[in-house]
Amino acid sequence: MSSFSITWLDLRENADFAARDKSLATQALDWLGQATDPISPDRIIVDLGAGTGATLRALTKLGANNLVWRLVDLDGKLLDEALRRHGKNYLIEDYQADLNVIGELPLTGAHIITASALMDLVSAEFIDALIDRISAHKTALYCALNYDGTTQWIPAHPLDEKVLSAFNQDQRKDKGFGPALGPDCTEYLTQALENRGYTVSIAQSPWQLMANDAQLLTELINGIAAAIDEDYGLNTNELTEWKNFRISNINNGSCVVGHFDVLALPR
Ligand SMILES: C[S@@+](CC[C@H](N)C(=O)[O-])C[C@H]1O[C@@H](n2cnc3c(N)ncnc32)[C@H](O)[C@@H]1O
Repeated sequence: MSSFSITWLDLRENADFAARDKSLATQALDWLGQATDPISPDRIIVDLGAGTGATLRALTKLGANNLVWRLVDLDGKLLDEALRRHGKNYLIEDYQADLNVIGELPLTGAHIITASALMDLVSAEFIDALIDRISAHKTALYCALNYDGTTQWIPAHPLDEKVLSAFNQDQRKDKGFGPALGPDCTEYLTQALENRGYTVSIAQSPWQLMANDAQLLTELINGIAAAIDEDYGLNTNELTEWKNFRISNINNGSCVVGHFDVLALPR
């Protein structure tokens, strides 16, 4: 598993919330509000790869209430942090589990499955197996912030394209689920869901970063540079030159990182 620090998840959260397509999120909540279930009057939402609870916070800001939140993550430290932050105010069931063991995920009775910043890490096999399981129960799926492989920097640098291509190759490496779909995840997910009879809506949710996101931009630039190496056709001097240029332009430039949000509703 790739590991994600609380600091990094906190750092990206404001940009993620701003980027999230509010119309799709509202449609997900509307659908959840209309779902009727006399056996389970509280709606059950299962957040996969929940981290410290970013989806809970985002959907609560957008009006989610009266939900049972099942937070699933392999990293116990992140789940403990989610409980520390929200355990007193929300109904939370935490599950430390490997998402790869799909048959054992706590999806029973779930009205909707959510994920954020997760689907670009997973493989086609994972998506197929997840959809096999949820489509049998006509469970909705809402996956936000799936990286789409695009990044536009201002000011431009001659190596931007080469760096992006190298980074996107790295995004397809195994992140704990088999070869990752990376930038192809939204297309794959959409097709797989439509094949199983879901009505799928997608919307762009780009990060729009400027000087006031300096800390996030610094981490992003360092992260990109650390992820790629000479295997991808960039030598150390080129990478250092690109990184220094990017860092020195944080305060007078901007960066747009493309993502898509996906909402799939059963017919
Ligand atoms: C990019 S983070 C996103 C966290 C959170 N959804 C957010 O938006 O802040 C990906 C999350 O997936 C979790 N994860 C990665 N691989 C996993 C696996 N095999 N099983 C369960 N969780 C996993 C990580 O621990 C991390 O919390």
